[in-house]
Amino acid sequence: MLRLVNVSKRYGDVWALHPMTLDVCPGRTTVLIGPSGCGKSTVLKIIVGLVEPTTGSVELDGERLRPDNVLRFRRRMGYVIQEGGLFPHLTAEQNILLMPRHLKIPDEVVRPRLQALCELTRFPPDALRRYPAELSGGQRQRVGLMRALVLDPDVLLLDEPLGALDPMVRAALQEDLKAIFTRLGKTVLLVTHDMAEAAFLADEVVLMDAGRVVQRGTVADLIERPATPFVTQFITAQRRSGFMPVGARGSLP
Ligand SMILES: Nc1ncnc2c1ncn2[C@@H]1O[C@H](COP(=O)(O)OP(=O)(O)OP(=O)(O)O)[C@@H](O)[C@H]1O
Ligand SMILES: [Mg+2]
Repeated sequence: MLRLVNVSKRYGDVWALHPMTLDVCPGRTTVLIGPSGCGKSTVLKIIVGLVEPTTGSVELDGERLRPDNVLRFRRRMGYVIQEGGLFPHLTAEQNILLMPRHLKIPDEVVRPRLQALCELTRFPPDALRRYPAELSGGQRQRVGLMRALVLDPDVLLLDEPLGALDPMVRAALQEDLKAIFTRLGKTVLLVTHDMAEAAFLADEVVLMDAGRVVQRGTVADLIERPATPFVTQFITAQRRSGFMPVGARGSLP
């Protein structure tokens, strides 16, 4: 069980995140959604220990994240950063195997794992030899996902994993992600600014605004029982950009 307890982040005079407490349901997909700058990436960076919170703490299975256990924590989490974060001078395979190599995990363990990940993410194994610049956007996202999954983490943290893709590729990857989440049964915390994507992937949605959680629940809860006028405004704005809550692919349960 992953918990944030009273976690906040202040940069100078600005609160990127006001104190927030959040339980992330084990084995389910929770989606953080909200306008640009509302603090979504900050939440993920605090969880993986890249950003130190101003107040509060992160707990995994009741244990608090501290400077002396941050690396052990990190190994239990797979993280796909916003904009992919692949090293351009390393091939796809070298990117995926960075941590296993660093941990000196033997080849006979790593090879079958790599093959299984290619199958899982439907990535052509021939392309493992290529550099990120020689892959399509969708393939790069798959490499990022494989890198996050390679150590078989308990928790998967994905920051806009489908951000910069064209709608067709994005829809295909959404289907694949959903199948992967269902198959692996991991605890997933995914950031998006796209309500249709949230509706399609999430068991539960956490809507944020200006560094605060405004409402959590299913997409249907947000539409039918908005906690504040902002919730309705956000959904209306999403509708204008094509979000179809009923009958469409990202439909209501
Ligand atoms: N290192 C930093 N120094 C100062 N301010 C920061 C820093 N990192 C983030 N911020 C600010 O904190 C706020 C939250 O940023 P964050 O990256 O979490 O937003 P976000 O919800 O992920 O936005 P987006 O959807 O655009 O990715 C923003 O106002 C941002 O400018
Ligand atoms: Mg962000």
